[in-house]
Amino acid sequence: MDLLIVLCCLLLAQNAVAVLGQLGNAYYNSNNNNNNGNDNGNAPPLTLTPSLPLISHFINDSFIIFCKTVQKDMDTKWRDPNGQTRENTKGRVHIEKKTGFLALVFEHISLADKGNWTCEADAATQDAKKSFELLVNQKISFDKTEQVQSVREGHDAMVNCFVTGEPKPEVFWLHNGENINTVNSSKHRRLSDGLFIKNVSQTDAGEYTCRAMRITPTFSDSDQITILLRIQHKPHWFYNETLPVQYAYIGGAVNLSCDAMGEPPPSFTWQHNGKGIVGFNHRVFFADYGATLQLHIRNESQFGDYKCKVGNPLGTLERIIKLRAGAKPTRPTRFQIKRLYTDAFELDIRAPRMPNATDEMQIYGYRVAYMSESDFKYSAGNWSYAKQRDFSFHRGHRFIISHLEANTTYLMRVASRNLAGLSDWSGVNIFATAAGSTRALMSLWTWLLLLLVLIWH
Ligand SMILES: *[C@@H]1O[C@H](CO)[C@@H](O)[C@H](O)[C@H]1NC(C)=O
Ligand SMILES: *[C@@H]1O[C@H](CO)[C@@H](O)[C@H](O)[C@H]1NC(C)=O
Ligand SMILES: *[C@@H]1O[C@H](CO)[C@@H](O)[C@H](O)[C@H]1NC(C)=O
Ligand SMILES: *[C@@H]1O[C@H](CO)[C@@H](O)[C@H](O)[C@H]1NC(C)=O
Ligand SMILES: *[C@@H]1O[C@H](CO)[C@@H](O)[C@H](O)[C@H]1NC(C)=O
Ligand SMILES: *[C@@H]1O[C@H](CO)[C@@H](O)[C@H](O)[C@H]1NC(C)=O
Ligand SMILES: *[C@@H]1O[C@H](CO)[C@@H](O)[C@H](O)[C@H]1NC(C)=O
Ligand SMILES: *[C@@H]1O[C@H](CO)[C@@H](O)[C@H](O)[C@H]1NC(C)=O
Ligand SMILES: *[C@@H]1O[C@H](CO)[C@@H](O)[C@H](O)[C@H]1NC(C)=O
Ligand SMILES: *[C@@H]1O[C@H](CO)[C@@H](O)[C@H](O)[C@H]1NC(C)=O
Repeated sequence: MDLLIVLCCLLLAQNAVAVLGQLGNAYYNSNNNNNNGNDNGNAPPLTLTPSLPLISHFINDSFIIFCKTVQKDMDTKWRDPNGQTRENTKGRVHIEKKTGFLALVFEHISLADKGNWTCEADAATQDAKKSFELLVNQKISFDKTEQVQSVREGHDAMVNCFVTGEPKPEVFWLHNGENINTVNSSKHRRLSDGLFIKNVSQTDAGEYTCRAMRITPTFSDSDQITILLRIQHKPHWFYNETLPVQYAYIGGAVNLSCDAMGEPPPSFTWQHNGKGIVGFNHRVFFADYGATLQLHIRNESQFGDYKCKVGNPLGTLERIIKLRAGAKPTRPTRFQIKRLYTDAFELDIRAPRMPNATDEMQIYGYRVAYMSESDFKYSAGNWSYAKQRDFSFHRGHRFIISHLEANTTYLMRVASRNLAGLSDWSGVNIFATAAGSTRALMSLWTWLLLLLVLIWH
């Protein structure tokens, strides 16, 4: 009964009608306009409060409706939309009875409660009957809709969007933010579970917005979901031809890369001379659209043909990289400072020509690794934390390391580069950038002077 009273009060507060006292007496004189008609001059034997013929609520709302009789001793009952008499005084939907009124209580409404509910007197005269229709609204949702979908090129396809909601909303579609015209379109059709696309091509890829909207007499709302549509296609190379021949030397390392697009994303496998790669001297770095094979060459037998196979359900590709023995580059014989700046060094680096190597195998550049003294201490002298800068002779013979801090000590080392990889590192040199400009010092002196003058006064 407590619940009933609380709900009663809520209902009354909502309607801003101060009839609490009258309710206490279980008497309510309804003189509002009864929308159900049935008014033949006399006060009707039955009234519903609220008295609207259509009442709309969302799932899980709570709601009470009172059926009142003029005669206090009149027996009444509620019938559900199936015509069944409801008499239970407990449960999600139940009846609460007091002299003068019979309340129908929905603790939380469910979709199954929709329909016509009727209060009627036992000694049924024609007029002693009142109905209201309960409309149950359900929020819009896109339950099982996948936010990434993929369809095949050259086929007809559906972008699925499973909208639920009561009343059922209308669905509109956008492609990359632009409205899709589905009226008289031979390309797109709006179906109940999604958008039909005829003869899918690459231009149909992108973001589809499935927007559900509804306008009802009691409320209006909308919701949307964005679906990324990918177009399936067989793999194709990112770059037309990576070097079909690569070089390495025993004791060195080399990266063989294989990058290809595909939808669904393709799988990558590497083979050496027609067999799977075994042993500890390799690692494969997989990315979404590529796989890089890193080899540490320890043994002649590791040279040969490396085949990268790329595949997805729509097709396969393969490419062979021939790995040949090259000459290890000689390390630089000269490594010193040419010019000092506050934020940069210009380096003087030389490596001799390799007398027994072909022209192709000659050194084509350098790699400089460097770290500040404090970083060096912080990383316990681990050079894998060093910054690197690669130079190639075809970009000129000036080797400038920039973006350095002023008045800071750096540790640096250098290696030569050729087609077969990197040489051994040079010894570590220690260089310091120039201190701040003298002009900065001057201004400091000026300030001090000014301060002295001020204090003097
Ligand atoms: C209704 O309430 C129940 C329990 O509180 C909850 O599990 C359910 O998700 C709710 N339904 C809606 C549509 O809000
Ligand atoms: C409820 O009753 C009204 C009037 O009799 C009728 O028009 C409507 O279709 C009924 N609704 C349902 C859900 O049966
Ligand atoms: C759709 O096509 C029909 C018949 O071809 C035509 O009468 C109608 O005006 C067209 N509607 C739109 C919106 O283009
Ligand atoms: C599908 O579209 C492609 C161009 O994107 C076209 O060449 C082909 O003929 C079309 N197929 C059909 C069945 O319309
Ligand atoms: C790759 O080569 C083919 C023909 O050799 C050419 O049609 C295509 O545009 C090239 N693709 C790229 C990404 O360079
Ligand atoms: C090979 O690739 C790995 C991972 O990207 C990289 O750390 C390494 O320096 C590369 N090795 C060579 C020789 O380029
Ligand atoms: C290379 O290594 C394999 C085993 O890993 C060994 O059988 C072979 O003899 C080695 N070849 C050379 C030239 O050292
Ligand atoms: C170059 O080759 C010759 C003989 O072919 C050999 O005597 C010499 O030591 C080689 N020089 C170097 C730097 O490898
Ligand atoms: C240097 O750091 C790298 C990366 O954290 C680590 O893998 C390597 O073992 C370290 N080397 C030494 C000699 O500590
Ligand atoms: C340069 O650094 C040294 C030591 O860190 C410091 O004593 C000196 O004042 C600095 N000079 C300038 C101009 O910042």
